[in-house]
Parts: sequence; structure tokens; C-alpha cells
Amino acid sequence: MIDTPTLENPLRSGLRLGRTPEPCTMVIFGATGDLTSRKLVPALYNLTRERRIPGGFSVVGFARRDWSDDFFRQTMLEGVNDNSRSGKVDGPLWESFAAGMSYHQSNFDDSDGYASLRERLDVIDQERGTGGNRVFYLATPPESYPVIIRQLGAHGLNVSPNGGWTRIIIEKPFGHDLDSARDLNAQVLSVFHEDQVYRIDHYLGKETVQNLMVFRFANGIFEPIWNRSQIDHVQITVSETVGVEDRGGYYDQSGAMRDMIQNHMMQLLTLTAMEAPVAYDANSVRDEKVKVLRAVRPIAPADVARYTVRGQYGPGNMGGSPAVGYRTGRGINPESQTETFVALKLFVDNWRWAGVPFYLRTGKRLPRRASEISVQFKTAPHLLFADSPTNDIEPNVLSIKIQPDEGITLKVSSKVPGQGQIRPVTMDFRYGTTFGVASPEAYERLLLDCMLGDGTLFTRRDEVEASWSLITPIHQGWAAGPRQEFPNYEAGDWGPASADEFMARDGRAWRRV
Ligand code: BG6
Repeated sequence: MIDTPTLENPLRSGLRLGRTPEPCTMVIFGATGDLTSRKLVPALYNLTRERRIPGGFSVVGFARRDWSDDFFRQTMLEGVNDNSRSGKVDGPLWESFAAGMSYHQSNFDDSDGYASLRERLDVIDQERGTGGNRVFYLATPPESYPVIIRQLGAHGLNVSPNGGWTRIIIEKPFGHDLDSARDLNAQVLSVFHEDQVYRIDHYLGKETVQNLMVFRFANGIFEPIWNRSQIDHVQITVSETVGVEDRGGYYDQSGAMRDMIQNHMMQLLTLTAMEAPVAYDANSVRDEKVKVLRAVRPIAPADVARYTVRGQYGPGNMGGSPAVGYRTGRGINPESQTETFVALKLFVDNWRWAGVPFYLRTGKRLPRRASEISVQFKTAPHLLFADSPTNDIEPNVLSIKIQPDEGITLKVSSKVPGQGQIRPVTMDFRYGTTFGVASPEAYERLLLDCMLGDGTLFTRRDEVEASWSLITPIHQGWAAGPRQEFPNYEAGDWGPASADEFMARDGRAWRRV
């Protein structure tokens, strides 16, 4: 009998469940910042709790503030208690985890700080058996990336002693536009090899986002209908109730397009639209994602009014309580033209998707937190039931709910029992009820993958640049156009009225998420 490889096998081995990395040291630059105590250390602690990382694993916090080892550990303990999905820490387990944590005070441009870091890492290798394996995590503001990368290179920290490995994780934002992303890539790659570089996009660490690939490529029934002949359009929504909180300084320079579309939402688009990769490995998957980005028809600066909508929230009402407008936030220009809402229409110009619009929408201070990809199929070609009391039979919609209420639903038309009526009903799969376990946090999966040397869920150089090459002309078009009448939606509304008109022009409407 011929042993035919099935899709299931590579995917199963590709998900690489249960693997344990070699012991290593993670150096977190910018360790006194919010990300470290809210996300990184809670994720590392949970991995330890679940025995996914080995005992010798160590953390060095590298930052400017004058903190002691003990103060660093105490601050991280509070961070884990407040933010970990596993609740309050277990005392003895924390003690053993914290025994591998230390703090290294230095300015990012201080050469001595890197020389002493190098010595410290060598000592950790000897004392904790980390074998020269290192992960450098850039969790600083992006202005500091170049100097840190240069200093790591200058001190030979880009290669490991003792045959170990060295990797670098780079947080978003990766660049501000196409040129700056290219510059940053050039700087990183003058010191590190692409295989050592892990550009993080936490959306790829979400279970539901990974399941999108499993859903598409481990089930045979969707492939034949996943194309222009069956699909009318796709809507991708990431709606947030939060405002910009205390991140005004960053956000006002960034806006929803850079903060959400360039990275997270482009990832959702590529995973929805990509062809099946030849294997579930880093380069095969990323090759297919890049092909999608290259096939997206760029929106020329002159066409932004036709293909994009921008919004900014003013004062309003969130869940019964008054909410202030964007412009009154700290660090925000009172005349700000920064968008807190964007809607876009994109086309993927290839054989599979020609003519199928992909509508993307994201915003802050919207009424509900909900992220979903919904694939709307074409309506039935001939209406047999035209004399039903409800004769507007709705199209089938497949919704992949990314968060919250993670799951997948399929809307189909059904006969109402005992009557001639037809009504849409949904077939539901919910993670919570089916699996009964809480999904790991995105950072847990991503940090573990980096330690395992698996870059599948990280962004490659060409992918980042391809995405920026679509976003930058839109910014250029916006900058050249008229000033916006901002604010143009109230906190607690579904974005500006122009977003609805945008869909209505195509004879469509946004889905209620
Ligand atoms: C971050 C953005 O990358 O993603 C934030 O900077 C946004 O502005 C966040 O709120 C959304 O992430 P999540 O996981 O809550 O959907």
C-alpha cells in the first residue's frame, strides 16, 4: 500500500505539542515597563507552572531605573498576581522561578552595561546550566531598538558561546512606515541573521487565530468553497471598548492604522486568504502569507476617500457611564487628526479572490469588545421558497470569533417548525464548552515557540515590508487630503456614520458582532 501523507500529520507535528525547549536566559530590555509585568513575566510563570520550560530557565531584566534584584522580583510577583490567568501565584513555585530572576541596571547606550551583561550571562550559564542559550527581548520604546541592537553586536552578544543559540524578539511597532521598517530591518540584519529574528505580533499567538489554519487546512470541506465563486465578501472586525488609556503619547503618533491594521489585522487577512502551505513550517507558512500581501491591490494616495474611512471618538457614553473624548487624553494633541477608527476595503488580486472585497474595521471606544472574521457566502441561486412569509432568505455566514466567546458559527436558513416561515439559525462551536479549559495567553505560546526556535508564528522581514508598502500610501493620501472633522463619532457608538455609508455604497452592511 502506498503511504500517502495526509494534511493532518504535518499539522499535528507542526503544532508540536508538548515540546520542551533547552534551558536558556531571557534578557528583557525595558524590563521596568508595563509589558514585562503585565504580559511577559506572567506568561513565563505560567509556562513554568505547566512545566513547559525547564528548571534552569533564567530572566535578566535590563533597564535604566535603579532597581535591585529584590525589587524587580517583588514588582514582577505583583504583576503575576494581578495579571496571570492562573490567579495568585503558588508560593514555592514562585520562589524557584524567582530564583532565576535578576536585574541589570544600565542605560541602553552604555557600553559598560553590555560588557557586564555578557559577564553576567556567562555566570548564569555556569550556575544554572543555560548552555549559552539566549533570548534578547526588546520591550523598550522603538527609538531604543537601534542602539540596543548595535551594542549587542559590538559586544559579540549576537552569537552564543559554547555552541548555544541566540535569538532576538522585537516588539511592535516595527517601523512607522515603509522606509523606517526597511531601515530597522537593515539594522537588525547587520547584526543578526534572519533566522535569529522573531518579530512578534501577539495576534498570531491567539488560539483562535492559529485555529484558523487548522480549520482551513485540516478540514477538507471548506477548500472547494473558499473562493470567489462561493464567497460574496469577507468582513474582519476588531472592535475594542477601551480607549487609549495612558498610551496617548504613543497612540497619537500612531493611530489605528499603524496600531492595529498594519500588523494584527493584516495577519488575520493573510491567514484567511492564503493558499495551503506546502508544510507547516516557518518559511512555508510565511511564503504563502507574503504572497497574499503581494496580491493585495494597493490603495493609491489619490483613492483613499473611496477605499478608506477614518474616525476619532469624542465624548460619549460607555455602558451607562460618561466617557471622555480622545483629544482630552494625556499626551494627545487637542487638535489631533489621529484616527481611532478605520474601515478599509481591500481586494486580493489573484485567482482565488478576484473581485471579492475584504472589509476591515477596527476602532476604540466602540460599544462591544469583539473580534471576528466573517465570511459571507453568496445567496442561493434560485429562491424556491419565495412565497414563505419571510422571503428575504439570508446568506450563509461563517464567523470565526477570535475573542471573546471564542468559537466558530455558521449561519444557515432553517424552517420554523410547524410554520411556513424560514429563519436564520446558527450552528455553534465554542471553545469554552467544547474543551472546558481556558486558552493559554498569546505570549505564552509565542515565547515558548521562540525558545524552541520555531518562527512560524512570527513575522518575516519581507512580510513586514509588504504590509507597510500597503499602509504607507494610505497615510500619504490622508496627509495630502483635507483636514478631518474630528471627532466624528461618540464614545460608545459603532464608529462614524460614514463607515455605514461606505458599506451601503456597495449594497452591504457591517455585521453586528
Ligand atoms: C495592541 C495595540 O497591539 O493590541 C492596542 O497596541 C490594542 O492598542 C491591543 O488594544 C489589542 O489586543 P487584544 O489582544 O486585546 O485584542
